[in-house]
Amino acid sequence: MTEPSEASRVVIFDTTLRDGEQSPGASMNLDEKLKIAQALEGMGVDIIEAGFPIASHGDFEAVNEIAKVIKESVVCGLARATHNDIDRCAEAIKPATRGRIHTFISTSPLHMKFKLQMEPEQVFDAVVDSVTRARGYTDDVEWSCEDGSRTEHDFMCRCVEAAIKAGAGTINIPDTVGYAVPDEFAALIRMLFNRVPNIDKAVISVHCHNDLGLAVANSLAAVQNGARQVECTINGLGERAGNAALEEVVMALRTRQDHMPYSTGVKTENIMQASRLVSAVTGFTVQPNKAIVGANAFAHESGIHQDGMLKNAQTYEIMTPESVGLSMSKLVLGKHSGRHAFRVKLTELGYNLGDNVLQDVFKRFKDLADKKKAVFDEDIVALVDDEAVRVNDRVQVISLEILCGTKHRPPKATLELEIDGLIKACEATGDGPVDAAFNAVKELFPHTARLQLYQVHAVTQGTDAQAEVTVRLEEKGRTVNGQSADTDTIVASVKAYVNALNKLLVKRGKTAPQALSA
Ligand code: KIV
Ligand code: ZN
Repeated sequence: MTEPSEASRVVIFDTTLRDGEQSPGASMNLDEKLKIAQALEGMGVDIIEAGFPIASHGDFEAVNEIAKVIKESVVCGLARATHNDIDRCAEAIKPATRGRIHTFISTSPLHMKFKLQMEPEQVFDAVVDSVTRARGYTDDVEWSCEDGSRTEHDFMCRCVEAAIKAGAGTINIPDTVGYAVPDEFAALIRMLFNRVPNIDKAVISVHCHNDLGLAVANSLAAVQNGARQVECTINGLGERAGNAALEEVVMALRTRQDHMPYSTGVKTENIMQASRLVSAVTGFTVQPNKAIVGANAFAHESGIHQDGMLKNAQTYEIMTPESVGLSMSKLVLGKHSGRHAFRVKLTELGYNLGDNVLQDVFKRFKDLADKKKAVFDEDIVALVDDEAVRVNDRVQVISLEILCGTKHRPPKATLELEIDGLIKACEATGDGPVDAAFNAVKELFPHTARLQLYQVHAVTQGTDAQAEVTVRLEEKGRTVNGQSADTDTIVASVKAYVNALNKLLVKRGKTAPQALSA
């Protein structure tokens, strides 16, 4: 692998677990975060921003646990420019083989005046103080000027120079509100290289938000002008419209080597698996026409395109499906398929499961194969991802029966849940079978969360297809997404609802620190 120090090497800094988790509705528990961190490490991501340790005990624990298990990637924690934040972050990353403290403060006139209510000189002092404090703990310190793209150039140059002098090895320029356009953002990076005297002592990083749909374009423009670290997230998750999508940045650099002669250390064949995992864990489904990882990204509908593809795939494909980990294998499994074929299929799909998980998933596969004639790749992905999101849940679905149809009015649900180890059962009615089942959940586990979204989609074609259900709940301004898949739509619905409730329980323990906007 190319060393990150090489001039053309772009360092990939993934912030799915930090900025991505700040997406409204995307919350992850410790187990899920560990799984994602391991997938990112396996994929060759250089730096994993694992969380914001001061934000909550859960965030601290996640950074700390990730720091214990991740060996290849640098594990990074976020901290505002205060001693408390930095000390807590240092404590969290302590077990890391290689740990980084990422400290930030806003530098734009708007943020300094209204958000921080600080004078520029106070901010300047805080920059030096925070980087110095962080350097007391680790050699690897990153400093960010929040709202960088709306910061005055003179002030930015002063702060960047001072941060480098105080020991920051990485300087990150965020387009916090997704306001920049590519030529302007490129000029900002060039300006720093031209004006900051000690710029060669640091790696310049960019962190672009997607409010105008320009996050990836801005990131690439910055790389072409000297930036050598890109901050990004799987599936472009992140605050508001999200961050630059890792898969898009990496595949653009790989596919357009002729125009952008830079490399990353990312094993692109792992992209699909990471995308599916993040989608399953957060309940954020990937839009079908999403670049690189959308279900249609490699599908060809029109006759002319299909004809071209048959003659030469390059007519309409600028990258191969295999290069992002999409298996084009035709091995379809059924109820006679054995454990060996199942394991081969999982490997093809990019899953490397331990024996216990494999055992559980194989059993669920056999149950599914009893209900469906052919089990397609999409079914297996839904099944494995479903298993991944259910571990350690406080509330679990034990059984569900529904009476509905023209003769059973109103529809009735009989539900058994296991709540903190205790089995509880009840019957409830509702306007329809889903309503009755959700009412039963509310009776067994009373809560005030409101249902904001209920969405069903078929994983494959045919009436025996699995239904993948997404449920979004809102409670006191906190939103969470739950997801599940099953051939029975009502079972999938209840499991998705319960999955969302479990996430809410995790999220209740979190408080948003002040003055952290993105
Ligand atoms: O968008 C932003 O400015 C951030 C910083 C904390 C880097 O997320
Ligand atoms: Zn951000």
